[in-house]
Amino acid sequence: MATQDVRKRIDELRELLSRADDAYYGKADPIMPDREYDRLMQELLGLELEHDLQDPQSPSTRIGGKPSKEFPTVVHPVPMMSLSNTYNRDELFDFDRRVRDNLGHSDFTYMAELKYDGMAIRLRYEKGRLVLGATRGDGEKGDDITANIRTVRDIPHRLAGPVPDVVEVRGEAYMEREAFARLNREREEQGETVFANPRNFTAGSLKMQDPVVVASRPIRFFAYDLLFDENDLARTQDQKLDQLARFGLPVCSVRKKCGTIEEVADLIGEWDQKRHSYPFETDGAVVKVNEDRYREELGNTAKAPRWAIAYKFEAEQATTTIEDITLQVGRLGTITPVAELTPVLLAGTTVKRASLHNEDEILRKDIRRGDSVVIEKAGDIIPQVISVVNPGAPGRQEPFSMPAHCPACNSELQRLEGEVAWRCVNPACPPQTRIRIEHFSSRNAMDIDGLGTAIVEQLVDEGLIETFADLYELDAGRLIPLERMAEKSARNLIDAIEKSKSQPFERVLYALGIRFVGEKVAKDLADHFRSVDRLMQAGTDELTAVDSIGPRIAESVVRFFGNDENRAIIARLREYGLQLEQEEKTSVSDKLAGKTFVLTGTLPTLKRDDAARLIGENGGRTAGSVSKKTDYVLAGEAAGSKLDKAKKLNVEIIDEEQFFNLLK
Ligand code: IVH
Repeated sequence: MATQDVRKRIDELRELLSRADDAYYGKADPIMPDREYDRLMQELLGLELEHDLQDPQSPSTRIGGKPSKEFPTVVHPVPMMSLSNTYNRDELFDFDRRVRDNLGHSDFTYMAELKYDGMAIRLRYEKGRLVLGATRGDGEKGDDITANIRTVRDIPHRLAGPVPDVVEVRGEAYMEREAFARLNREREEQGETVFANPRNFTAGSLKMQDPVVVASRPIRFFAYDLLFDENDLARTQDQKLDQLARFGLPVCSVRKKCGTIEEVADLIGEWDQKRHSYPFETDGAVVKVNEDRYREELGNTAKAPRWAIAYKFEAEQATTTIEDITLQVGRLGTITPVAELTPVLLAGTTVKRASLHNEDEILRKDIRRGDSVVIEKAGDIIPQVISVVNPGAPGRQEPFSMPAHCPACNSELQRLEGEVAWRCVNPACPPQTRIRIEHFSSRNAMDIDGLGTAIVEQLVDEGLIETFADLYELDAGRLIPLERMAEKSARNLIDAIEKSKSQPFERVLYALGIRFVGEKVAKDLADHFRSVDRLMQAGTDELTAVDSIGPRIAESVVRFFGNDENRAIIARLREYGLQLEQEEKTSVSDKLAGKTFVLTGTLPTLKRDDAARLIGENGGRTAGSVSKKTDYVLAGEAAGSKLDKAKKLNVEIIDEEQFFNLLK
């Protein structure tokens, strides 16, 4: 390459890699696959070295991103390095050869661990208390996100057992796949941008300014490294992991000490096969020399330790064709474009459709009908269209454009300022009506048994109902003529509708389907305002005074109740006898004040919700998982791993009877 061309290429690569760094670390929204990043970085490093064109500003000298501006910056006393990557058996064996050459012997062992695909976190404990939680940032300095870290249930605020004065823990914050899929579904339904994968969701959550919101995100944590002065406690990686567990920190059990690299390679092969069966995302394995004394001997390069390496699994991708781009109408009128794909097998299932999320996303990737595309599963469950295989191919179809009218009711689509989604604002749009009624009757809302998708569709199509308020006008006589509707099921359905009238106010509020008002917000609103009349009169200021309510939710509530049709529906619901107010929450007692409970298994008489309510009314609190901070595990029939954990941590286990005794 001519010198001029070399410079041009280097500039190009620096520009591209800086952008990739920003996207990955700054916005937690990567623009290229890791493998591509590594390839470009290798090319840049090679060119800089070969032509002696190193530059301290080059992305090749950086480990990760710059710390962001909104959080205080902390300097890491020991830098948080990254790892070099390997992609196949040969590269793994090269690593092993380098280690043995450097040490001059083979008298060491390896620890192989899964590589958790989340966000690197540093924790600092002083005298056993959590004093700091920080991001990696650029490896030297990161963000102090302590307030957010404290909301992560897996992370104890106090370490257990005898503890040295200062303990530094490193690990990975992550989100389980199922939780990721559920939250993303909710976001899509609400017309919010969705996260591409659990890693981004985790990073995006931990970098939010409001710890209250962070607390609502189910973020988990695995510890993988321990640093302290009293090295006697642990001198090898397996001792460190055991010690971390004794401190009460979660350590992943999928790990193994290996004598040889062959053993490591076989193990990684096994994990690769099983990777989809873990509840969290793993993008590979980390192989570490086990013994500290050899780690010290091996030392580090500028970017990474010489004693450890990452092994990246092949991302599971497939190539297929976009047969069509269709539009789906959501409960709130959000129009979501969907790719109808030629069916293809990917990571264990046949994929036929993939959400394209919104117009911007399609235009950014320039996805068109007829294109051959690469698809991948985000969080291994949600198929995503990653890229177009040959964007330069001749004869491609026209670029995608959003139609001006709703595919279901033909009314004009609107795009509100600052939103990515187009929406159909016609309240009578049939698919929206159907989804709203389904939401209204769903289990966590009015819980109307027997009112599933098919029945709702029939009722709407036959013109028997237009809104959920119409449900309360139905009688069995009008249902029986419907297809597949016997007299008995018609009566059962009418009974279930009748029964729903006793659902508490907070559920009714949630069932209304107000945008951004999920279960938690509905409960907070009900607790605060206690009646729909007071809520309807509240302005945004009054609303934002409630703990979990921000301006966006407040505006949505005000808009909802400002609408005449919605007010008319509320008036009807009142007439039918639905619960539109709730009594002031009186704390029954403070017998359980300060006590944390974890519920597991089936109790003989109490339902889980009721037990949780009793705990709350008596001043206690319930948590989702057992930790050292748990005071009681209330266990019933068929209790699972929580019970084991309670035994291990010596947490008191009680049954329903003992629980009632506590309340006496
Ligand atoms: S050990 C000197 N162990 O992978 C670095 N890292 O590419 C020591 N990671 O930033 C890291 N699982 O956030 C280690 N079991 C594991 C890991 C792990 C995930 C992440 C970590 C690090 C990145 C390195």
